[in-house]
Amino acid sequence: MALKQAPFRSIGGKHTAHHVQIPSLASLFSLKWKQFKVETIGGYHFRGQEKEFVHHAYNGMDDNVFSAINGAQEWINWRQIPRSLRKSMHHHGPALIVDLGCGPGSSTRILSWYGSPAWHIIGIDFSEDLIRRAKHLSEIGGFRTASGGRPKVEFVVGSVVEPLHDASGVRIKDNSVDYVNSSGIVGHHLDKDNFVRLATELQRIIKPQCWAVLDSGPHLKRDVIQPIMEQHGFSLRAKVRGVPLDPRPQLIFQKTS
Ligand SMILES: C[S@@+](CC[C@H](N)C(=O)[O-])C[C@H]1O[C@@H](n2cnc3c(N)ncnc32)[C@H](O)[C@@H]1O
Repeated sequence: MALKQAPFRSIGGKHTAHHVQIPSLASLFSLKWKQFKVETIGGYHFRGQEKEFVHHAYNGMDDNVFSAINGAQEWINWRQIPRSLRKSMHHHGPALIVDLGCGPGSSTRILSWYGSPAWHIIGIDFSEDLIRRAKHLSEIGGFRTASGGRPKVEFVVGSVVEPLHDASGVRIKDNSVDYVNSSGIVGHHLDKDNFVRLATELQRIIKPQCWAVLDSGPHLKRDVIQPIMEQHGFSLRAKVRGVPLDPRPQLIFQKTS
């Protein structure tokens, strides 16, 4: 992947002395081409909302195929995730963060980079293979903040439409989570009924006044996601686009009741 060195701001509006590699604008074209080759020419199917089909498609997916089908998602994550954090998390103190559908830690890595060493991040994905890769990345120190700090990062095999657990298998406590991220999962892989299940769990685990930042996508768009989140006590505070006219913004919800 073509990468450029680019200065970026960490959350809280503070410049860091560090630089982060984010994929350049030009690299999006080669990422889209790789995706087209794998999906359209190679006939690799992973798009869908049926749990068994999606699990089967991701589990056992080799690294190259995952990078090809997820490259454009990661490209947009480098732009959406820091913006969403800046609009919501205004402190660097201890916080519990959950990354839904974390894959091999690809979105978790970006959350860590823009986060704080005081954070405890739990990545959850139902693919055993991808979680194994995320744990390996964690063992070799792959999750760092921009200033070189090491947040506590754990990974759990689990479905996001069932009760959510931490790495020791304990159900995540009521009103304990500061920030939930989802990238490339809600809008792509959940149907309406499953999203209602997730919203019920988000209402349970997220602290009052705290945040659920959810990706919209081709299958679940804002017009479906927003009313369900409102029925579960959340208010939409912002839409975060990775680039102007980005059709799949992250939706920032705050728990208000
Ligand atoms: C497009 S990938 C996104 C990975 C990562 N979040 C990123 O943005 O780079 C979607 C991920 O969601 C996971 N996923 C899909 N449906 C899920 C479900 N019901 N429960 C848990 N994980 C799920 C897949 O296994 C896959 O790793």
